[in-house]
Formats: sequence, structure tokens, C-alpha cells
Amino acid sequence: MCGIVGYIGARQAQSVLIDSLKRLEYRGYDSAGIAVVPPGQKKMQVHKKKGMIKNLEDNLPALNGTLGISHTRWATHGPPSDSNAHPHVDCKGNIAIVHNGIIENYLELKESLINEGHVFTSETDTEVLAHLIEKYYTNDLYKAMKLALEQVQGSYAILALHMHERDRLVSARNESPLVLGLGIDENFIASDVPAVLKYTDKVVYLDNGEIADVTKSSIKITDFNGKTIERPWHKIEWSLEDAEKGGYEHFMLKEIFEQPRAVREAMLGKLSGFTLDNVNGIEFNSAKILGCGTSYHAGLVGKYILESIMGLPTSIETSSEYRYNSTTLDQPLVILISQSGETADTLAAAREARRRGCKTIGITNVVGSTLTREVDDVMFIRVGPEISVCATKSFTGQIISLYLLASHLSRTRGFLKADEIREFSNALRQQSRLVEQVLNNPEPIKECANKLAKAENVFFIGRNINYPSALEGALKLKEISYIHAEGYQAGELKHGPLALLMPQTPIVAIAVKDHTYDKMISNIEEVTARDSPVIAIGHESDTELEKYVDTVLRIPDVPPLFTPVPVAVVLQLLAYYTARNRGCPIDKPRNLAKSVTVE
Ligand code: AGP
Repeated sequence: MCGIVGYIGARQAQSVLIDSLKRLEYRGYDSAGIAVVPPGQKKMQVHKKKGMIKNLEDNLPALNGTLGISHTRWATHGPPSDSNAHPHVDCKGNIAIVHNGIIENYLELKESLINEGHVFTSETDTEVLAHLIEKYYTNDLYKAMKLALEQVQGSYAILALHMHERDRLVSARNESPLVLGLGIDENFIASDVPAVLKYTDKVVYLDNGEIADVTKSSIKITDFNGKTIERPWHKIEWSLEDAEKGGYEHFMLKEIFEQPRAVREAMLGKLSGFTLDNVNGIEFNSAKILGCGTSYHAGLVGKYILESIMGLPTSIETSSEYRYNSTTLDQPLVILISQSGETADTLAAAREARRRGCKTIGITNVVGSTLTREVDDVMFIRVGPEISVCATKSFTGQIISLYLLASHLSRTRGFLKADEIREFSNALRQQSRLVEQVLNNPEPIKECANKLAKAENVFFIGRNINYPSALEGALKLKEISYIHAEGYQAGELKHGPLALLMPQTPIVAIAVKDHTYDKMISNIEEVTARDSPVIAIGHESDTELEKYVDTVLRIPDVPPLFTPVPVAVVLQLLAYYTARNRGCPIDKPRNLAKSVTVE
């Protein structure tokens, strides 16, 4: 997720573009750049810097010009660097573009453009757009953009300007958001409302498959067939702070509701396979997954996925334990999971794994993070910046990446036949829709949260692939609502924890229809026999479950292997509404940090 801004009007573009970009810093902040068209000069002013927007601002000369674009980056392809920062330009330096999204087929486009003589200066997927527009440019930026985007597969919010057309900005959208801000003799284009709110509260939202041709006094929206689209403008009533949260009360809720898109982006371009250059072809007979906190819980889901799909013996340890445990004789494939890529214990564990001679794969959300330099191969989950301390979309993005990794390893090691791989990929494609279905029905979850908010202790129980869900549900609740919560294997309650159950101790039981369902019902009956209230999470079509519990929260009917993501969303909302009910500072819980870079 990146932030893009365009300005055309009477003001000096530089101050508008930098000021507006700062309002989008929550969308990405590993590098930033700006391009301004100076009146009467032949050369565009392009400046880009690795680091926060302030680093760019502090190194910027005064740029003269009333037309420009700017960008703050969250890297997906190519580490943060000056050259990988946007804007990207064409060979002649006449076209500048900024982009938010992922170009799935960028490698083949890049190869074909290089063969046609185009010279690239970055490792990004985005740069192909600048050269494609150049390829199709015949004195009409709108037409060139349209022709270029017809070659592109993937998600984009793109914004372009041309030195020979100083009275227009052209932008287009597919999947990544774009909003037009309507001023008086000036217009704005941006990824999100906060960027324009200081200048105008009149906005027009672009939809997928639309192109906007913008001058300082007009906007024209068309589809890709050139058909004009009349779109009413909206008056924004939000405050600036609300706007940064997209109108949500907290970043956590915003990031929970971003998950349909985040899950899709985590999969984009990988369902038909991907390369792990340094791990492909090595011999290993087992895997070990390492991580901390929520990332550890994602790893535990990964254990069930790898063992279920390819029978690969998989162990799981917290990073903090692994690094001090004894070295064993085996050399498993070591998979390290970290949203930030900066967790000290996980970095130390990566170095220890390599010292033990193990091949390592990192699964992270941050391109250019330290973890990416400590492992042999990296998978990026690409869910965009996660601002809330509480991990939500990164957890589901990590699980999606583990499905993809299991599919990749199975495919390359012959564990899955072609039809099985197709079936698996089709099931994975449904995950985003399943998340949407859960998000579309929050009321029952809110009602349960009202009850949980009064509890002092809560237990979460689950079996098999949803045992990690129980652990994650407990972590979510305790870290933002400050209620003491524990996650347990359902079969373990009777070996001690049952002594803690009282009528005022709610239990959250994850009881999806799988091969352990009957045992789960027995465990629920053990609990209800102690008069503890039970909130169950179960399949949509399960009509039996409500006979045993007080409330059933539903997930869509989906094979057990694919239940952790929708279950996670239920648990995230349950924790969120409980904490909100208790008036907790949800995005910044006491004592916690987003990335634990100390041991
Ligand atoms: C989860 O909500 C917490 N924010 C915390 O447990 C987190 O998952 C843990 O610190 C690991 O962080 P990482 O994924 O960045 O390594």
C-alpha cells in the first residue's frame, strides 16, 4: 500500500504535494519522491529519497511549478532505495508516474520493453508503466495510459503527467483506491481523502476500470472503452484524523476491514507459482517454523497446513526459545515469520538457524527489513503498513503465505497432482470472499463482546488447525482489552484448567465441522457442566452446535483446512468490540510496541 498525490492549479505544487503526502504516511513510509513540471523549462524536476517523507523534504530545493505528482512508498518489489522510490520516468524523462498496487505481469512486460530498447533504472514493477506509456504515446497522455494499462495485469492506482501536456494529469484505477479532490481553479488526485481535505471537502471516488483526465478546471472520467461516466461528488464530513483512519474509529478496525483486499494482495501473482531461488532443489525432510506472538500463532497454523498437505514433519518454536535450545542432528527447512522483520528474537533465531546449517525462508510484511538480509529466501505478505500495535491483517496475510508456500513446496516436490493444485488454488481464492462474509455480519459478535467486556477471565479452546486460533483469540483479547485470557487445546482443559472454570468465566470454543468435532462437543459439555457460558464459532450450516452453547458465531461453510482465516476475523472483531466496550486505547495498548526490537 503506498500513497500517491497529484496537483494541478495555481499554487506552487511542491508545498501542496509534500503537505498532502504527509497525510498519507500511514500508507507507507520507506521512501518518497516528487516530480514538478517547471514552466518554460525543458527538464522535469524529479527528486526521490529513501526514508520518511521528511528526509525527502529536507533535501528538496525550491521547485517552481504548478503541476506535479508525489509518492510515499511501501515497497513490494525492490527494496527501499532512492532509485526504487517513485516517481518513475520514461527513457526521455518526459513522462513521470506514481503507482500504488502490484503489476503481476511486470517481468514479462519489462523483458519485452528492454528488447524494444527501453532502459530501466529500478528494480520495481512500477517502472514498466512509465515505459509502456512512452511506448504508446502519440501526443495524447490519456490514450497512451489507456493503451498501456490494457497490457497490464494486477492492481493499480496510477497517476501520470507529461512535459508536453502541461495542462493535464491522467490517472486510472484498478483495485487500489483513488479519489479526486475538486477545488476552485485547481484539482487534486490522491490515494485517500486525508491528502486533499485541507484544500477541499468535495471529492469524487474513482471506480475500478476508470480513467480520469484532469485539468485545473475540469475532470473527465471514462471507462476503458472511452465511455464518459458522470459521477456525483461527495462532501466529506470527517475530521482530518478520522480521514486517516478511513472513517473508522481506530486503525485496528480499519485494518480488520482491509483484510478482503489484503488477503487478495497477499495472493496476487503467486497462485500460479513463484520462485524461491535459494531453497528450491535443496534436500530437507522436515520443517521448523519460528516466530513471536501472533507470528508464532501463524506459524502454528502453518504446521497443520504443511503436515496436512504434504505430510512434511513440522515443528514450531518461539524464536526466543529456539535460539537457546540445543542443536539437534537434523537440518530442517527453517521458516521465520515476522510482520515487522525487525523482532530481535526472530532475527537472532534466523542467525542461529543458519549457524546450524539450515536453509531459511523469511515471511514478512516489510521489504528491506533486517530479516530479509538474514534469510536465504523471502516471501512478502504485502498487506500494507499495519499501524495498530495489534496484529490483524498481517496474521491473515501470514497464513495465506503459508498456504502458498505449502502449495509451492508440494508442487515442486511432486506431492500434489495438477488437479489437486487447481482445487487447492480455487479454495484459496475464496478466502477473500469468506472474510467479507464475516465482516458483513458484525452484530452477533458485538453482542458477545458486550458480555465478554464484563469478564475477568476468558478461555479460548480449539483443536487441530484451530488450536492456534484459540491462542490467537486469547492474545488479541488480552493485549487490547486487558482481560486475562488463555488459549488451550480443548482436550487439555480436563487436565487442570477446568479447576478455574466458574459461572462467570466465559469460554470461546472454536467448533468447526472437522474430524475432531464430536470431541469438541464433549469438551463443550465438560465446560457447560460447570455452568460456564460458551460462545462457539461454527460453520454456517451447523444446526447442531446451538444445542450445546449459549451463542454461535458463524463462519461460512468451508473445508476445515481453510477455516483459520475466517475464524481469525471473528476473533479479531470480538477482541476489538470488547476492548472498545471497555474504553481501552486500542491502537496503542499499554506496555506494548508494534515491533519488539529488543530482547
Ligand atoms: C500481536 O498482536 C502483537 N503485536 C505481537 O505479538 C507481535 O505479533 C509480535 O511482537 C511479533 O511481531 P513481528 O511479527 O513483527 O515479529
